[in-house]
Amino acid sequence: MKSIPTFIFDLDGVITNTEKYHFQSWREICKLLKFNLTSELNEELKGISRDKCLKKILDWAKLEISVNKFNELLDKKNQIYLDKISKINSSNVISGVYEFITSAKKQKHLIALYSSSRNANFILDKLNLHSFFDAIVDGNSVKASKPDPEGFELAAKLTESDPKNCVVFEDSEAGIIAGNKINMLTIGIGSSKKLSIANKVFKEFNEIKFQDFQKC
Ligand code: BG6
Ligand code: MG
Repeated sequence: MKSIPTFIFDLDGVITNTEKYHFQSWREICKLLKFNLTSELNEELKGISRDKCLKKILDWAKLEISVNKFNELLDKKNQIYLDKISKINSSNVISGVYEFITSAKKQKHLIALYSSSRNANFILDKLNLHSFFDAIVDGNSVKASKPDPEGFELAAKLTESDPKNCVVFEDSEAGIIAGNKINMLTIGIGSSKKLSIANKVFKEFNEIKFQDFQKC
């Protein structure tokens, strides 16, 4: 018998256009550190937790700072970010996503979220999307963030889904690596060059047809 795949969505850069605000906020922090954060380097920050991002930046800048300063910068980055997203609403949902999710619900797909962000619940509320999700896993729910698959495993468990029957939608390489590790079908959203390790890549949700995911 065919089972209906469970869809697990990333948030930043997949459901909503908040990834640019993470980048702008990190750039402000990097300015304080006198380090130039380029958009190429920023690709490596996508999908990973706030503290892992700062560790990477400090490595790139070859800087060592105290634990207090580290925590202070994390707080500052989050304050800048929260300020930038304070006015987001349903108009910040990326084109095609709302239609895709509502059709998926009608066709009885279970819908889960796995985002490394600790602000995920707050953002879903602002976007008015909370009620669509059968399970929500965020940066507060896991010990190891992407590329570790812990969050995807948890999303599968919470929706009582076999990981092999889950489809992951991701814009980050870290997220695709995590999904691949546990044999989920990985769908890159964005550039096929940057996400070549995904099972399939689409520029946007409008291009995707559900039949592509009927695997078993
Ligand atoms: C991910 C983003 O979704 O969440 C990363 O892709 C971000 O860029 C990470 O660093 C953590 O987000 P937050 O909101 O907890 O700082
Ligand atoms: Mg993302």
